[in-house]
Amino acid sequence: MTTAAIAVSGLTKRFGGLLALDDVAFSAQPGQVLGIIGVNGAGKTTLMNCVCGIYKPDQGSILIDGHDTTGRAPHEVAHRGVGRTFQIPRVFRKMSLIDNLLVPVLAQRKPDSVLLAQAEAMLEQMNLLELRHNFAEELSGGQQKLLEMARMLMPDPRVVMLDEPFAGVHPQLCRFMIERIESMSAAGKTVLLISHDLTSIYRLSNRVIAMNQGRIIAEGDVTAIRGNPAVIEAYLGT
Ligand SMILES: Nc1ncnc2c1ncn2[C@@H]1O[C@H](COP(=O)(O)OP(=O)(O)OP(=O)(O)O)[C@@H](O)[C@H]1O
Ligand SMILES: [Mg+2]
Repeated sequence: MTTAAIAVSGLTKRFGGLLALDDVAFSAQPGQVLGIIGVNGAGKTTLMNCVCGIYKPDQGSILIDGHDTTGRAPHEVAHRGVGRTFQIPRVFRKMSLIDNLLVPVLAQRKPDSVLLAQAEAMLEQMNLLELRHNFAEELSGGQQKLLEMARMLMPDPRVVMLDEPFAGVHPQLCRFMIERIESMSAAGKTVLLISHDLTSIYRLSNRVIAMNQGRIIAEGDVTAIRGNPAVIEAYLGT
């Protein structure tokens, strides 16, 4: 059996009396897109925060390519090949687009010219090359999401986690993002995709997990999830 790119088991996270993650378990193989759906407060972002090291889980384990990263600091998890974007993009607002992209790779000790060429190629892929010397704060909200995606991809992560990439983004830019996500998967990256946009989730995902109140209430392929009574009830009520 091949080693999963990411394997989570028994993951539990409490905030005081609130059980934000309750015994969450899943795994994903290289190149797979795992959709993560659930109503507001279901625990989706908390799950990503635990995986990337922002939060320390109370229980459970996280393996990246078979390496235990549970409770490790964000930079250590990133070093293992995990990248993520945020629900509200966190770009370096007072830095140029090029400089934003160089931040995560400065420690790589490659020649400046190589890193610069890599950053420009990445901006070109994201349709942002013309704006490379602008400050990040001059970009639209959707463009800031693309910039954050580009910055995340610079160190060539093997597992990428995208938290609501389509929220508040024009449909045309959504389509462009979907293509970018498809090419991440085609390049062998494992994608964890949180979205309330079920159309995009269903188009992109090989498998979907549905969360509610910190638990996984359903898991399966798109057809199984669409028709799952627990998912329908969690979204629409009885
Ligand atoms: N740092 C924190 N301190 C206290 N409670 C938190 C913290 N982070 C998250 N929570 C709580 O944990 C629960 C899950 O939140 P989370 O942000 O993971 O939900 P979500 O599924 O991402 O929701 P949304 O779709 O609205 O983004 C919520 O009840 C939230 O209030
Ligand atoms: Mg969230």
